[in-house]
Formats: sequence, structure tokens, C-alpha cells
Amino acid sequence: MIFDPVSNAFPAELNPFKSISIPRPIGWISTVNREGVHNVAPFSQVMNLTFDPPYIAVGINEPIKRKDTCVNIEETGEFVYNVATYDLRKQVDITSLDYAPDEDEFEIAGLTKVPAVKIKPCLIGESPISMECVYHSTVRIPGNTYGTFDLIIARVVMIHIKDEFLMDNGKIDVLKIRPLCRLGYHDYSSIESIFEMKQTPKTKGFDGLSGTVLNGQEREGGF
Ligand SMILES: Cc1cc2nc3c(=O)[nH]c(=O)nc-3n(C[C@H](O)[C@H](O)[C@H](O)COP(=O)(O)O)c2cc1C
Repeated sequence: MIFDPVSNAFPAELNPFKSISIPRPIGWISTVNREGVHNVAPFSQVMNLTFDPPYIAVGINEPIKRKDTCVNIEETGEFVYNVATYDLRKQVDITSLDYAPDEDEFEIAGLTKVPAVKIKPCLIGESPISMECVYHSTVRIPGNTYGTFDLIIARVVMIHIKDEFLMDNGKIDVLKIRPLCRLGYHDYSSIESIFEMKQTPKTKGFDGLSGTVLNGQEREGGF
């Protein structure tokens, strides 16, 4: 199969594009608007941009109007990235529906508001990991048939990991969390197996792969 994605004339019943760059984690983004109404929505067009200091990006499409998440982040400059899990998949689905800006999606989905340390939006209490984020900038990309796209870039200023999801050596217990991932179409997955692969031969320098970079220093053995 070969096709030009701009023409949308893909030679299959369903467009395969969103099922190519997979699996995508689901950033479950909580915000609060200027009137104080809390909002939650899932986004799979998310990524780590860099780690020292940590920055992330959230990609928000604008099919008809700007989504509440995008408006709230740009107006208040703050949001929380919560990790979506297999156990929370129903609540993730509920919060993906389109609600009016004055509806509290924590309440609609039965989620618990936990105050953040540095910012106004709340953490989702049921999520194992939440990152407090401060808005940096938006890269606005024109759409084709689908309106514009906003790539929101933000700095992570506080990280919350529930102790029960940390192993004795401080590593995140990913298999216990079972993060939810998007595969395109109506398909999802969750992480249920892990294998370790160390660089061969071990390179010198700050490759960052070990996850042990702190203040520009890469350390052996974790901390
Ligand atoms: C698993 C999942 C992933 C999603 N990922 C995105 C995404 O990356 N970008 C986007 O614009 N919408 C995405 N959506 C749709 C939004 O969650 C949906 O439009 C939501 O209603 C936006 O809410 P808001 O208006 O409160 O911000 C996703 C939905 C689901 C269920």
C-alpha cells in the first residue's frame, strides 16, 4: 500500500495513519478555567520533549471550536498531566465526551480532586502519577479538512508518584500501573510486559538512557 495522506484517498476502509506511530501514551489533562470550573480530557498526541529540565507537549486538534483544555491552558498557563491506566479506562472515556465549559468533568466522571502544590488545576486522585505543568508556548499548525492544530509546550514543575507504584530501588512499577495506550482506530493496549536492553558497548557521556541524569550529571545505579 502506498498513498498520499494529504489527499485523504487512502486505499482502505480506514485511514491507517493514526495506527502507525504507536503505542501512544494517554495524557489525561486536568485544567481549571478562569471562572474556577475544573476540566478533564484525554490526549494521545502527547510526548516527552526533553528531560533536563523536563518539558512535555500536548497536541490538540480544533475540529469546530478550540477545546476547553486548550483554552484553559492558554488562559491560565497551567495544567496537570495525569497518567491514564487500564483500570481507569471507563473514566478516561467519559471525560473524552464534549461537555460545556461550565460543567465540572471531575464530578461527571466521579474523579477525586487533589490540590496541586505549585499550580491551581487539581491532580486526578485516582491516577498513579501526575505532573504539574506550566505553559511555555503554542505551535499552531494549519489543518487540512480538520481545522487547526495546537501543539502546547509546557515545563514540568512538580511530579507526584504514589508510593505504592514505586519499587524498592525507586523505579516506577510500570506493570502495576498498567498505563493505557492508543493504537489508532478504536484500539487500545496497556503495558503488560517489559524487557531490559542496555546499550552495547556502553557509551561514555550523557546519553540520558539510564534515566539517571540530574543537574547535568549522569549517575550510575540510579538515585
Ligand atoms: C484516548 C483518547 C485520546 C484522545 N487524544 C486526543 C488528542 O491527542 N488530541 C485531541 O485534540 N483530542 C483527543 N481526544 C479527544 C478529546 O479527548 C475530546 O475532544 C475531549 O472532549 C476534549 O475535551 P475538552 O473540550 O474538555 O478539552 C482523545 C480522546 C480519547 C478517548
